[in-house]
Amino acid sequence: MTIAQLRQYGCRTLREAGILAAETEIRELAARFLGLNRLSPPGFLQQQAQTQQEQAFLEAVRKRCSGYPLQYLLGSWSFMGCELSVGEGVLIPRDDTEVCVRACIDKINARGWTAPRIVDLCSGSGAIAIALAKRYPEAVITAVELSPEAVHYLEDNIRHNGVSEQIKVVSGDIGECYDLFEDGIFDVIISNPPYICSAELPGLQKEVQCEPEMALDGGTDGLVFYRLIAEHWLPKLRTGGILSLEIGEQQGQPVSCLLKAHGRRKTDVLQDLGGLDRAVISEA
Ligand SMILES: C[S@@+](CC[C@H](N)C(=O)[O-])C[C@H]1O[C@@H](n2cnc3c(N)ncnc32)[C@H](O)[C@@H]1O
Repeated sequence: MTIAQLRQYGCRTLREAGILAAETEIRELAARFLGLNRLSPPGFLQQQAQTQQEQAFLEAVRKRCSGYPLQYLLGSWSFMGCELSVGEGVLIPRDDTEVCVRACIDKINARGWTAPRIVDLCSGSGAIAIALAKRYPEAVITAVELSPEAVHYLEDNIRHNGVSEQIKVVSGDIGECYDLFEDGIFDVIISNPPYICSAELPGLQKEVQCEPEMALDGGTDGLVFYRLIAEHWLPKLRTGGILSLEIGEQQGQPVSCLLKAHGRRKTDVLQDLGGLDRAVISEA
């Protein structure tokens, strides 16, 4: 088939499979597997695809129709201007996570800090840690992640984004490794932990079910990791330090109450673009 025929076939097939953004997705898949982009020379669409390219493209379309995530097929995804490798075993960074990162940046800037000591708990692909490292080239950042598969992506992403000097990876359980750090050592604690209630996992959309359960499962009430952070990590935050957490849409009130019970006085719940509660930020 020609490149044009493949693109047309792919778009129709994705649409028939009910994929809403079929055109955008096929553009991404055609760029990745057929080399078609805005700079392709005139006549490129009429060229015959090489057999290998054609097979890879058709296989990607087939997998996408079965609910496999577009981002895993592409092998990389962008978060706040940082290109990150992703694949099975690591959570795909979401735009929603910008809410807790941007809130954190605003608070850091308001204090005039240029070299904050930051810990990113449950770091996954490193989306948060890397975005902050690029924003604050003098920041000293620790990224904690338990899954060996995710740590592989995290280290790779740190290298490819040129922030190896700034980010130290701790491969460990946030429920155990807090003892490695002195009390009051961090200016900022930030985290997008697993926060979905265990019972809701089987009902998640197919794409999300391809992502690691360990990145999603927040225990019976979805709050297990917030309790761990409040109990074991808050003491690691200096007086006047910033805590920024991504939350699920129903968790604004319970997470704020939990933090208040652990001595945080000033706590705000922030919304995403859809108006849903998405982050809790606490600065005292
Ligand atoms: C919701 S994902 C967030 C990933 C990344 N921070 C982001 O925003 O894209 C949660 C991450 O927590 C990791 N995780 C789960 N349990 C953990 C634990 N006990 N200690 C450290 N990391 C853990 C998962 O492997 C996953 O990478």
